[in-house]
Amino acid sequence: MKLSLPDLASMEEFGARLASRLKIGDVVALSGNLGTGKTTLARAIISALGHSGEVPSPTYTIVETYDELPFPLVHADFYRLENPAEAEEIGLADYREGAVLIAEWPDHAGGFGHEPSCLSITLEKVGYGREAIVEPGEDWQSRLP
Ligand SMILES: Nc1ncnc2c1ncn2[C@@H]1O[C@H](COP(=O)(O)OP(=O)(O)OP(=O)(O)O)[C@@H](O)[C@H]1O
Ligand SMILES: [Mg+2]
Repeated sequence: MKLSLPDLASMEEFGARLASRLKIGDVVALSGNLGTGKTTLARAIISALGHSGEVPSPTYTIVETYDELPFPLVHADFYRLENPAEAEEIGLADYREGAVLIAEWPDHAGGFGHEPSCLSITLEKVGYGREAIVEPGEDWQSRLP
């Protein structure tokens, strides 16, 4: 499924739609080149869930956690991992326990597309805007954004 996201407002709207459909155990895997809007979409989701205040990019910390939302949420950016095994070394399995994971650069952590609860979104630049290619895991078929 392809979605057109021509501006920041449409990104906010898409993030809010995703937020309303999330369940514990889900992964939202955000792929796409540098600067395609992965953090922007993650921010839109986290804000729509009720977070007020900043949503720092996890580029350097790799993981940011949110515990004051309707469910625990982990926002990760795996760009800096040198190999997928490091994802387990930093305790990803523990972070994910009872939580939702939003993952930028999911391939650097070995990928999550094989998980039924993974919604894979690939962002691409199109002119000044963006396009999203959405690939739902089995658990997402009935609650597509
Ligand atoms: N739908 C959109 N239309 C136009 N500009 C957008 C859209 N979404 C995001 N942007 C802009 O793209 C820029 C980069 O966004 P962002 O930091 O979210 O990218 P990223 O994919 O997380 O990058 P990185 O790979 O470095 O983590 C920002 O300036 C943001 O405002
Ligand atoms: Mg980013």
